Amino acid sequence: MRDTPPPRLRLRTLGDVGEIRDLMARVYPPPHGPEAIWSAENLRLHLKAFPEGQMVVEAGEHLVGTATAQRVPLAAALASHTWSGITGHGSLSTHDPAGDALYGVNIAVDPAWQERGIGRLLYQGRIDLARRLGCRAFVAGARIPGYHRMAAEMTPEAYVAAVAEGRIFDPTLSKQIRVGFQVRGVLRDYAHDVETMGHAALILMEL
Ligand SMILES: CC(C)(COP(=O)(O)OP(=O)(O)OC[C@H]1O[C@@H](n2cnc3c(N)ncnc32)[C@H](O)[C@@H]1OP(=O)(O)O)[C@@H](O)C(=O)NCCC(=O)NCCS
Repeated sequence: MRDTPPPRLRLRTLGDVGEIRDLMARVYPPPHGPEAIWSAENLRLHLKAFPEGQMVVEAGEHLVGTATAQRVPLAAALASHTWSGITGHGSLSTHDPAGDALYGVNIAVDPAWQERGIGRLLYQGRIDLARRLGCRAFVAGARIPGYHRMAAEMTPEAYVAAVAEGRIFDPTLSKQIRVGFQVRGVLRDYAHDVETMGHAALILMEL
């Protein structure tokens, strides 16, 4: 690790498709299903729809992080929605070049590299992009992977409130709050996910 150059944020290219799929498989091992891993077809469609919204972080010769974004109308991002509905089943066919919100479709950091600033690099790259584009806000459906451990005791709303207040640490939502997002509610049945039990927090950063 000592000889590895510092992690570097850059735009995704077509040549990254295979490595991103390998990275996603490390981030989402079983019991996550294959739907948690980007298809090569969708990764290619992202580059056609909105190339400047597709970012990776490389460390030496390997990718250690990936993030996908699109533009949508802010009103659509703040309304109740599912991941599939707002992203066109992950294809970004719903990308709106005039959308006044940047929408975080996906972010994933190699487990061996998590909690070392790679996520921050990917968030900052997208915050900078959203500001350059004149977007009013950066919005996402945030995973709450710690929820399945608490589901017998509390609703997703109570869990998200406890994370927002700092009473519970969630491995994903707590980091997003640290980066500057505010919690705006819960998106029930947002996306199939064994850890989140399908639920997500609606998060927003005003720009
Ligand atoms: C969520 C995810 C992308 C974050 O990436 P990461 O590289 O671990 O994040 P970072 O190390 O950059 O940390 C982000 C912020 O959280 C803080 N943070 C990280 N670990 C923390 C911890 N254990 N306790 C408190 N804060 C912590 C960091 O300090 C940083 O804030 P800062 O830049 O102000 O210092 C990563 O954990 C991941 O890929 N998770 C699995 C997939 C997933 O859930 N994706 C999200 C989809 S919504």
